[in-house]
Amino acid sequence: EKGGYPHFMLKEIMEQPATIRDCIRGRIYDNGTKIFLNGVNHFKEKFLNVNRIVIVACGTSWHASLIGKRMFQELAHIPVTVEYASEFRYGTSLLTPNDIVIAVSQSGETADTLAAIKMAHESGAFVYGICNVIGSSISREADTGTYIHVGPEIGVASTKAFTGQVTVLAMLAVAVGNLRGTISDAEVSQIATAISNLPELIGKTLNLNEKIEDLSKIYTYVHNFLYLGRGYNYPTALEGALKLKEISYIHAEGYPAAEMKHGPIALIDEMMPTVVIAPQDDLHDKIISNIQQVKARGGKVIAVINENDREISQIADDILEIPSVPDCISPIISSIPLQLLAYHIAIRKGCNVDMPRNLAKSVTVE
Ligand code: F6R
Repeated sequence: EKGGYPHFMLKEIMEQPATIRDCIRGRIYDNGTKIFLNGVNHFKEKFLNVNRIVIVACGTSWHASLIGKRMFQELAHIPVTVEYASEFRYGTSLLTPNDIVIAVSQSGETADTLAAIKMAHESGAFVYGICNVIGSSISREADTGTYIHVGPEIGVASTKAFTGQVTVLAMLAVAVGNLRGTISDAEVSQIATAISNLPELIGKTLNLNEKIEDLSKIYTYVHNFLYLGRGYNYPTALEGALKLKEISYIHAEGYPAAEMKHGPIALIDEMMPTVVIAPQDDLHDKIISNIQQVKARGGKVIAVINENDREISQIADDILEIPSVPDCISPIISSIPLQLLAYHIAIRKGCNVDMPRNLAKSVTVE
């Protein structure tokens, strides 16, 4: 059942080439040039007339949603807010019938997310579900939606569901942008092709496993970790930190890299390593200076970078090289070494990675 792996978590990390292939199957066509999602096609008017999108989610799904926000704003020109479902349901929503609420939930059973979409329906908003579990409560309550189709996720720490959620959000933002005329057919084709290539590139990225296992030896006894990223990879930093803390019980915080100097920089010394997610995107120069700021204070830096990034490989203590992809889908690749890092550190510490203490796979109570 674990496919020859010692833990479900490792199996689920390793099977991501296949789960992403399943996630995009039938949705990208014409030689990887077009994207089709039923939920968009059946409700074109909703997406053409939308006033704003509110994404509600918890935990890892909330991190995927933050990436989705950036995609919708960049590709479909729709204003988006991302809410913790637990906060949203007890706040003043100001939803209108022209708003679309997207609920992102692997299990489709998270109590707060379910309550948030019930509240959305009371305001007349349209609800789009992004779930994994077929026939789950949220998938039934939503007006329409898209399954991520990554197969059962047994490990409590979400891994393949996160990459599936980000993949669906990318396809959704592109499909909606195309419908609204905010991106050209050429741009659609470019991103669709890049998404089609993800299974192969994820496979390449997974070859980092041994290197990360080695690296985990150095970092097992650390008490605090900082994770930094910018733009599309700011949420990747949050997700990397969550993975580490929930399965290894090491305290970790994720921050947008530039926020570091507004507080967390005070914590940096040789005892607190910083993981920096720094692919060669629009913000590459900016993040190099963030790395220099950490190094100048004696901090150790593990950098997730694109292949042949000489500038960062010269200053970082350790590098993890990942293939280059368009910015908007970069977290689907860059999150994978962070999943493996959390896994190997937790294993070295003797933790039960599949069933971390105090956590349940789906949170069906408040
Ligand atoms: C972390 C994790 C949780 C879930 C959260 C939401 O690894 O798994 O943070 O992401 O409980 O669960 P779903 O997506 O089922 O609504």
